[in-house]
Amino acid sequence: MIERNDPITSTAEIESDIKQLDLSLRPKILGEYVGQEDIKRNLAVALKAAQKRKEPIEHILLYGPPGLGKTTLANIIAHEMGVNIKTTSGPAIEKQGDLASILSNLEENDILFIDEIHRLKTQVEEILYSAMEDFALDIIIGKGPATRSMRISLPKFTLIGATTKAGLLSSPLRDRFGHIFKLDFYEDSEMESILKRSASILDIKIEDEAIREIARCSRKTPRIANRLLKRVRDFASVEGLETVNLKLTKESLTLIGVDKLGLDKTDRKILVTIIEKFNGGPVGLNAIAAAASEEIETIEDIYEPFLMQLGFLDRTSRGRMVTPNGYSHLKITYTESVNPKQKKLF
Ligand SMILES: Nc1ncnc2c1ncn2[C@@H]1O[C@H](COP(=O)(O)OP(=O)(O)O)[C@@H](O)[C@H]1O
Ligand SMILES: [Mg+2]
Repeated sequence: MIERNDPITSTAEIESDIKQLDLSLRPKILGEYVGQEDIKRNLAVALKAAQKRKEPIEHILLYGPPGLGKTTLANIIAHEMGVNIKTTSGPAIEKQGDLASILSNLEENDILFIDEIHRLKTQVEEILYSAMEDFALDIIIGKGPATRSMRISLPKFTLIGATTKAGLLSSPLRDRFGHIFKLDFYEDSEMESILKRSASILDIKIEDEAIREIARCSRKTPRIANRLLKRVRDFASVEGLETVNLKLTKESLTLIGVDKLGLDKTDRKILVTIIEKFNGGPVGLNAIAAAASEEIETIEDIYEPFLMQLGFLDRTSRGRMVTPNGYSHLKITYTESVNPKQKKLF
């Protein structure tokens, strides 16, 4: 009996599973990276220009919801430039000294990838300013009247920062990036290409219709597509099916709790909470998080961008509101009595 009900978007318990899967499925070169055409075009030019000048590529900021390919792209850039990449993350760097030591250990042309760069402490971030602009490290030595500042030069390197929240970056930091690329959700056809590639790498036999179904239910997010593919493969192997078909795919997705647009239980809980407890909104994020027992960050990073993309949720200056389309997806009638405040606007 197979009955699994964990939300596809939860993180902790699937972290290591995902890491393994991500590593094996991660495209290594720009040509294998599906979609994000604008970014790829700009990046190809920047890569060529840098190689011609024999200089490292300018600092790059990548931003967008989780699972869209930021880390993958950072690694591809390093591969395409033929340089080393050192990876760290905002919350992992505790003190100025930690970052100073990472920077002074870089070699000429290296890429330093800082994931979740919006979570750098202000003090630590300040070290980056001169490092990015002048390839220099300004450090203060001593205390009181004996204080002196010293400048150490650094090798020329490229900083690639990734963030889900570009808005949280301070402007001095943002301004020091030569390229700022926003990753978008993927088209269904792009999701299908990604899934076909993954199925072939993982040696999964799967019908086109089943690929299409998974693509449609993957929140336009490659990481989720790969994860659902693997889950459906597991169901197929338990059932003794050699080829994954549409029927099994639909059954598996239902068991996992994913509906036909790719919403999981948490997405639906968020919408229902806003409708039932707050008359459909407008309501602040804090109140939604408390009422739905979810982390504010999780709602903001993972659920909200997708629900807004589907047109089920609106972000207004007065708070979040469920749209008439959101009501209709949940089969809840959108009437004046349900949401008098929102109705008055029209
Ligand atoms: N454009 C893409 N083409 C193919 N696979 C992709 C693409 N973007 C992401 N993936 C897949 O999705 C997984 C998650 O991407 P990742 O770069 O870790 O996302 P992020 O860093 O934005 O959270 C990768 O391991 C890779 O398998
Ligand atoms: Mg990442």
